[in-house]
Amino acid sequence: MDRIHIRGGHVLKGRLPISGAKNAALTLLPCALLTDEPVTLRNLPRLADVDSFGHLLNQLGVSTMIEGARPEDFGRVMTLRAGRVTSTEAPYDIVRKMRASILVLGPLLARAGEATVSLPGGCAIGNRPIDLHLKALEAFGAVIEIAAGYVRASAPDGGLPGGTFTFPVVSVGATENAIMAAVLASGTCILHNAAREPEIVDLCNLLVAMGADIEGIGSDRITIHGKDRLHGATYSVMPDRIEAGSYACAAAITGGELELVGANAGDMQAILEALRETGVEVSASKTGIKIASNGKLRPLSLSTAPFPAFPTDMQAQFMAMLTLADGASVLTETIFENRYMHVPELARMGADISVNGRTAVVRGVERLTGAPVMATDLRASMSLILAGLAAEGETQVNRVYHLDRGYERLEEKLSAVGADIERVSDG
Ligand code: UD1
Repeated sequence: MDRIHIRGGHVLKGRLPISGAKNAALTLLPCALLTDEPVTLRNLPRLADVDSFGHLLNQLGVSTMIEGARPEDFGRVMTLRAGRVTSTEAPYDIVRKMRASILVLGPLLARAGEATVSLPGGCAIGNRPIDLHLKALEAFGAVIEIAAGYVRASAPDGGLPGGTFTFPVVSVGATENAIMAAVLASGTCILHNAAREPEIVDLCNLLVAMGADIEGIGSDRITIHGKDRLHGATYSVMPDRIEAGSYACAAAITGGELELVGANAGDMQAILEALRETGVEVSASKTGIKIASNGKLRPLSLSTAPFPAFPTDMQAQFMAMLTLADGASVLTETIFENRYMHVPELARMGADISVNGRTAVVRGVERLTGAPVMATDLRASMSLILAGLAAEGETQVNRVYHLDRGYERLEEKLSAVGADIERVSDG
């Protein structure tokens, strides 16, 4: 199994390219199921999750072709074609490895009139039920049955009649599934209290390019007038705001200066505002965002919440950064109930953090020291990388497969801007 070794204490400086967004890619890919024509996605990040999603789609009858990717390029172009859907089942073995597989439910139901998807179960950061995905589809006229660990959704002949659903809690994935199911409905589907994350805007923009009729894009009230069919399209995946935010924290924690090339400040207001509050300089550059820090960080009070507020996917990275702030910070996690798994690992590096329920108090320390650490999820692993970049001595981050799910060639990007970081393979 691979590990990442970091010798900390190097100031990061330079230009760092931002890849296509993982979470956008994972909802754009299943859109290929909605048409028999080719869908070409550009700027698709090279990530384990994207590969896994491609394999799942292959099993459903979608052909995937990667064009002219040179090893040195970031991102790639993939053309997907679902001439015929040959299977409507997403099996347990795939879904348990990648929760986002649930995102084939809506498009399969829309295109084939039925879908059978394994229930994903819990994961390291919380229970993560899918009840809202199912309730939204039911509201649009789907029949839902659950048996033997699988959910089977079916639509009446002629497609989903349509309907209205109000989300009791904002859910990114359920909003995505509902929109993808609705674009081929026979009637109109309306969502209230829909998620407004930029990845959902990206999804809607692709669907509109494929011929869908969607009103209220980017708002919490989305109206979809179903179409008989959609056509192919070529579309570029949006830049990854969480990857960009993570590298912004890398600049901040090392007292460095990074230009995040290709990052979109418009999608990152809450993250950039929080960085400014810590005393980090944030400015627009010609090609992205510039982050500059003198290494002196002020403490913060932060609470995660749905977009446009501060994202839960940045909580662990900010926590790593605030371990070295000048004073005590208070972080509140409102989205997932178990998202402080990185705390004991950061503590092993010398951080002073106490957790009480959903709130964590991070008291800034003088220094962190390198240690062997591991994390149980993607963003938690990134928080350990950030701590390692600033720590004295060597940090070994184990379970690198978490990072490979969401950060395209992390060690290459970081060493190019001055980090002393390498991947070490046991085998
Ligand atoms: C997506 C992102 C993930 C991010 C999260 C919140 C992808 C692939 N993943 O996950 O990186 O951390 O949004 O921004 O895009 N919930 C229910 N019932 C449901 C669905 C959700 O109770 O049917 C709850 C969840 O347990 C959680 C909250 O709603 O407490 C928000 O989850 P949701 O927005 O659905 O997260 P995901 O779409 O799974």
